[in-house]
Amino acid sequence: MENNIAEIWTEKYRPKKLNDVVGQKSIVSKIKMLIERRSIPHCLFTGHAGIGKSTLAFVICNELFGEDWKNNFLDLNASDTRGIDTIRSRVKDFARTIPISGGFKIIFLDEADALTKDAQHALRRIMENYSDKCRFFLSCNFISRIIHPIQSRTAVFRFSPLKEQEVIDHLRMISGKENVKADDNALKAIFNVSEGDLRKAINILQMASLEESTTEAQIYDIVKKDSEQTRKMLNYALSGNFLEARNSLITMLESISGEDVIKEVHEQLFHLDMPDQQKIILLEKIGECEFRLVEGSNPRIQIGALLAHIALNAKK
Ligand SMILES: Nc1ncnc2c1ncn2[C@@H]1O[C@H](COP(=O)(O)OP(=O)(O)OP(=O)(O)O)[C@@H](O)[C@H]1O
Ligand SMILES: [Mg+2]
Repeated sequence: MENNIAEIWTEKYRPKKLNDVVGQKSIVSKIKMLIERRSIPHCLFTGHAGIGKSTLAFVICNELFGEDWKNNFLDLNASDTRGIDTIRSRVKDFARTIPISGGFKIIFLDEADALTKDAQHALRRIMENYSDKCRFFLSCNFISRIIHPIQSRTAVFRFSPLKEQEVIDHLRMISGKENVKADDNALKAIFNVSEGDLRKAINILQMASLEESTTEAQIYDIVKKDSEQTRKMLNYALSGNFLEARNSLITMLESISGEDVIKEVHEQLFHLDMPDQQKIILLEKIGECEFRLVEGSNPRIQIGALLAHIALNAKK
């Protein structure tokens, strides 16, 4: 079996053309029309993680500008860049040079919902100042966090989680190319645990492909590993060993997101051997922690604080 783990399948199989995008049919057909007419508006892509928002931004650029699309494309991450001033100066620099073809350039601002309201108002002015030379594509998970003046100046595309058949067909295509022996039940199991997030589904398939053949039980085993690690982490905290609990957390965050860890913690809470009253108090803390993570807080600090709370109470 040819299995080069250094190559990440989500990147290897990221679509380059509109026709390769999985699902999102009505969005794809609208975009096709806009590309044919070469009348591209500012766009806002919204929806869950791993369902094709960034992919579509790259694909549109590729369809419009062909080979040298990267010269016409500026990729900014709202949560990486140090505030709106950095965004403004990078946009200014980028917009200064003449577009290679097509008359305009594309600026992609990922995680736009991580910007504060003030920053979004400033962004709106930047968009207006440069709209003769640039089109802005914004991507976000929660449209409610985007200010109305931006929503009303963009064409809004709402992405849906991918459907079972779409995910399974795509995984089957990758399995074929990578010589992975995965039966139908295994692919179905991957869909069940990934909940329409195609990035997560492809990552699970790649992990599972390290085994001789890929089965349903093995998929649930991979997912179970996260539960076992979470249980271990919680048990450390419950026995008052905060440092070990925190170490487990740091290890887990290397492979899964903070939001996935807190989801697991929530699952595991119901299996813990503790009085209901204590579970209710913890549930409230978990809810707070989840809210902060979704808002973009640092998972090490937030889940670390939750573990500290559990460990402190354990010592009482
Ligand atoms: N609709 C799709 N069609 C084909 N591949 C997809 C699709 N959605 C996701 N993928 C696969 O998952 C990977 C991640 O997708 P993408 O970066 O577009 O997610 P996203 O919606 O921008 O997520 P996030 O909200 O986390 O930024 C892609 O590289 C690709 O391999
Ligand atoms: Mg993205």
